[in-house]
Amino acid sequence: MTDAPIGIFDSGVGGLSILSALRAALPHEHFIYYADNANAPYGERDEGFVQERCAAIAGDLIGTHGIKALVVACNTATAAAIQQLRDIWPSLIVIGVEPALKPAVALTRTRRIGVMATRGTLASAKFATLHAGLKAEAHFVLQPCDGLAEAIELGQTPLVQELCERYTNAMGKFGSGAAQIDTLVLGCTHYPFAADTFLKLLPDEVQLVHPGPAVARQCARLLRGAGLARSSGAGGVQWLSSGPIEPLQRMAAAQWA
Ligand code: DGL
Repeated sequence: MTDAPIGIFDSGVGGLSILSALRAALPHEHFIYYADNANAPYGERDEGFVQERCAAIAGDLIGTHGIKALVVACNTATAAAIQQLRDIWPSLIVIGVEPALKPAVALTRTRRIGVMATRGTLASAKFATLHAGLKAEAHFVLQPCDGLAEAIELGQTPLVQELCERYTNAMGKFGSGAAQIDTLVLGCTHYPFAADTFLKLLPDEVQLVHPGPAVARQCARLLRGAGLARSSGAGGVQWLSSGPIEPLQRMAAAQWA
């Protein structure tokens, strides 16, 4: 079982922002990355649809590929389906991602935090619980970003620029002054691929937060705890997608050229 792959999926290329942290933390592991791009964007679908897709993808990764752990590298899918996946496969290691509100609370000085995520993530019960538990610590400005994940997925640079500008403008003032947003949570795994655009638009003192490194640490900890970590030999990635493979090839080539 130690040599079995780790399954990881997203609606598209966004999960590569998690995969790169996983590969850095677990260089000997084999990964199978599944992009469900024929059914994207998840963030603007209803919860039942996303749950069905997650169960089908997990079932295939387990049944056909014999994975030893599953990383749900999508905030929207985690919010909609992680509990259901854990209920169906109770003995499998299942790791999800959630908008990094807790790390943002530890970083902010102005106590005003911006959260960009999909409509689906922000409307979910899981996010409501996370948000409610931290409301006393800081003020969170929540911004659904329709279309942004899709524009990143398709490499539509001018549209990415336009949407980043539109959504950050809608959130209010950024900076280190009183009542300004000094920390921006990228609550969709696609958004780190627009980090350079955000950094150009926002004042220098604004910090961007995303959960890749924390997810990788958690995955490594759980695998080692279960005696399932691979400790030698070359790792690698097998790529799968439900739609065209081109976006995945383009992003993977840019990341690991
Ligand atoms: N990458 C996904 C997330 O983290 C969502 C993108 C989509 O809407 O499909 O929420």
